[in-house]
Amino acid sequence: MDKKVYELINDQINKELYSAYLYLSFADYYEEEGLNGYANWYMIQAQEERDHALIFRNYLHENGQAVKLLAIEQPNKTFSSHLEPLEAGLEHEKYVTGLINDIYAAAVAANDYRTQRFLGWFIDEQLEEEDTASDMVTKMKLFGGDARSLYELNQEYASRKYSTPSPLAG
Ligand code: FEO
Repeated sequence: MDKKVYELINDQINKELYSAYLYLSFADYYEEEGLNGYANWYMIQAQEERDHALIFRNYLHENGQAVKLLAIEQPNKTFSSHLEPLEAGLEHEKYVTGLINDIYAAAVAANDYRTQRFLGWFIDEQLEEEDTASDMVTKMKLFGGDARSLYELNQEYASRKYSTPSPLAG
């Protein structure tokens, strides 16, 4: 495997684990705020991010590459409104999309067609994650100021269930 492609994928394991850590911190915030539905949603999101890390880890192993686990940064977020984590989540997902694009660009430069195909799942996933994050921001802006509506939104997010991402299933 090309050295640059390898390094970016190895770093991505760390970035995905950081994403899990970040979303765990969002879940903690909402838990403390009494919004257990939002907390549930971000707990599941944290699981999905760990899954993303494992997908990259597995891909390196399948390609006979050693994994180098790096230190995970501390999420350093304090929030003063229910909207803030949602906006931070959307920004974070845009950042992650940029990281995936960088890996893809390196794979193109290296004529690494296998990695380009592998990244297809993540490219689709990022579209979905940005869309969902944006929707959560919009709904909070529209309805978050009304106690009954916030209660209903919280109920909606409480119903989210974890499912194993397809690259890890099977
Ligand atoms: Fe691993 Fe939220 O993208």
